[in-house]
Amino acid sequence: MGSFTSFQVLLLSLALFLASCNALPQNEAAALTFFKRAIMEDPLQILSDWNYLESEPCEWSGISCSMARDHVIRLNISGQSLKGFIAPELYQLSNLQELILHENLLMGTIPKKIGKLKNLKVLDLGVNRLTGPIPPEIGNLTNLVKINLQSNGLTGRLPSELGNLKHLEEIRLDRNRLQGRLPVGNGSEFPSKVHGMYASSGNPTGFCLSSQLKIADFSYNFFNGSIPKCLGYLPRLSFQGNCLQDKDSKQRTTEQCGNCPCAHLKTHE
Ligand SMILES: *[C@@H]1O[C@H](CO)[C@@H](O)[C@H](O)[C@H]1NC(C)=O
Ligand SMILES: *[C@@H]1O[C@H](CO)[C@@H](O)[C@H](O)[C@H]1NC(C)=O
Ligand SMILES: *[C@@H]1O[C@H](CO)[C@@H](O)[C@H](O)[C@H]1NC(C)=O
Repeated sequence: MGSFTSFQVLLLSLALFLASCNALPQNEAAALTFFKRAIMEDPLQILSDWNYLESEPCEWSGISCSMARDHVIRLNISGQSLKGFIAPELYQLSNLQELILHENLLMGTIPKKIGKLKNLKVLDLGVNRLTGPIPPEIGNLTNLVKINLQSNGLTGRLPSELGNLKHLEEIRLDRNRLQGRLPVGNGSEFPSKVHGMYASSGNPTGFCLSSQLKIADFSYNFFNGSIPKCLGYLPRLSFQGNCLQDKDSKQRTTEQCGNCPCAHLKTHE
């Protein structure tokens, strides 16, 4: 093999230059296309500039890219009445740090594949119409600092995997139909524990591990059991409107707790 001529080097560097400034990897661009395709109604036409022919994705509304403009790092489309589903293909935005789709009309479930967005720091899907469980895969997002899933129709138990999120500072889960205990135990011990065990166990795990937790709102769900001791520093309002054993906050009546509209109730426990 002969060495490169200077012309070849010039061509090569031009190609590299074009590749580096000519925008996103194909899978990220494809993810955005899938996102738009899963939106059925966009009354405020926020996605009308999402058009490859007119501009590159880093220019589109709601999208922020890295300095080198080679990755999408934030998708923020809030309060836009977007109606539709959250495309699972969003997981292809591998450098995404913030996914903010607050206050829209998104329905369906939270895609499990969101658990592949390893760089995610902020997940805000609050004030939508999402249903189904909180995927345990969210516990894989170890860089998460904020989770907001408030005011949806989420059901099921809180995955104990959320306890893996050691950098978590804020979690808002209020106004859903979540049930079961607030997880304090870690993944391996959580499902089999019985009354009172968490408070007395020596090693703090689960949310008790998230020592940075500053804001947490569990209100207006159907959580039961007692408030974990390690969360005792949170304002009592964070726990009200549930089925918890707590004299200091207003809880639901026994009758309301017996009629939890929680889908996919397991009959035992
Ligand atoms: C997201 O967008 C809304 C307006 O569309 C803005 O008010 C808000 O500050 C943005 N949030 C972040 C974290 O950029
Ligand atoms: C993500 O989490 C799920 C459920 O908690 C687990 O089964 C899976 O192995 C995790 N994946 C990775 C890549 O860590
Ligand atoms: C869960 O807790 C038990 C007992 O405290 C411990 O032995 C185990 O390693 C922990 N597992 C994880 C995944 O942290």
